[in-house]
Amino acid sequence: MQNKASRTAQQVALFRALETARGHDRVFDDPLAVRFLGGGYRLLARAAKVRPVGLRLSRFIDTRWPGPRPSAVARTRLIDDLVLESLGGGARQVLLLGAGYDSRAYRLPGIERVAVFEADHPATQAVKRRLIRGAVRPERRRHVHFVPVDLLVEDLGEALQRNGFAALEPTVVVWEGVTNYLTEPAVDQTLRRLADLTATGSRLILTYVDRRVLDGVIDAGPWPEAVKRQGEPWTFGFEPARLGGYLAERGLRLELDMSTRDAADRYLEPLGRHEQAATFYRVAAAEIQ
Ligand SMILES: C[S@@+](CC[C@H](N)C(=O)[O-])C[C@H]1O[C@@H](n2cnc3c(N)ncnc32)[C@H](O)[C@@H]1O
Repeated sequence: MQNKASRTAQQVALFRALETARGHDRVFDDPLAVRFLGGGYRLLARAAKVRPVGLRLSRFIDTRWPGPRPSAVARTRLIDDLVLESLGGGARQVLLLGAGYDSRAYRLPGIERVAVFEADHPATQAVKRRLIRGAVRPERRRHVHFVPVDLLVEDLGEALQRNGFAALEPTVVVWEGVTNYLTEPAVDQTLRRLADLTATGSRLILTYVDRRVLDGVIDAGPWPEAVKRQGEPWTFGFEPARLGGYLAERGLRLELDMSTRDAADRYLEPLGRHEQAATFYRVAAAEIQ
C-alpha cells in the first residue's frame, strides 16, 4: 500500500453506512461509519437514508461490482458475533489489526470494559484518529489505544508492546480485510507474533481471499482490478483446503472457515434479502494454542 490513507477502508465504511441507513432490515447498526466518509461517499450515505434511494444505490453497486458490498455486510455481522462471543468467554483485550474505519471499539455492547488496540498503517490511522476525536466523546474512547504499524516492514510485537498491549492476556484479534493486501512473509510473521503474544485460548478472526482468485482460476469479477487501480492490489490469498495446516504450523487451531456467501445465507436470507455475497471472500476463526 502506498503511503496514503486506504481507499478500500473508505469503501468498506461506505458499505457499512449504506447498511446502517437501511433501517428495519439491517443486520448491524454502525452509526459512526458515515462519519468516516469523504465528501462524495458521505453524500451517498446520507441520501441512502431515504430507503428507496439506499436500496437502488446498493443494487447499482452490486450490478457494477458483484460481491464486495454484501460480502462486507455479512462478514461484519459474523465478526461482531464472534467478538461478542469471545468477550463473553473472558477475552480481556481486543486487537483490531488493520483497523481501518472499523468502529467496533465504540459500538459493541460491553467492549468498553476491556482494552481495545487499533493497529493500522500510520497513513490510514492518522485520518481515523482525527475523525474519532471529532465524533466520539473522550469518556467513550478511554479504553482505545492506537498502534501505528506498517505490517510489511515493522515488527507487530514491538509496536504493540510500545503501546501498552499486555502479553499473554486472553485476547480476541480481528484481522478483517487485510491479509489480501500483504505478502506471504508479512502474514507469516504476523501470525507467529500473535501466537507468541497472546494467551492460550485467545481467538484470531481473519478474512482472506481464496488464493485461486490470484492464480486466475476463479473469476472474481471487476473488483480486484478496481482496487488495483486505486493502488491497493490483492497480493496474498490462502487456498481454503490448506488454511488449517498452515495455521497449525504456527500454533493456531482452525475453528471456523466460511465464505461470505454462507455468512449471507445465515444473516441476510432470513430477512428475505437475496443479495449475492462472494464465495471467494472468506472468514476464518482460529484458537491460539
Ligand atoms: C479494506 S481495509 C479494511 C479495514 C478494516 N479492517 C475493516 O474491515 O473495515 C484494509 C486495511 O488494511 C490496512 N493495511 C493495508 N496494508 C497494511 C500494512 N502494510 N500495514 C498495516 N495495515 C495495512 C489499511 O490501512 C486498511 O485499514
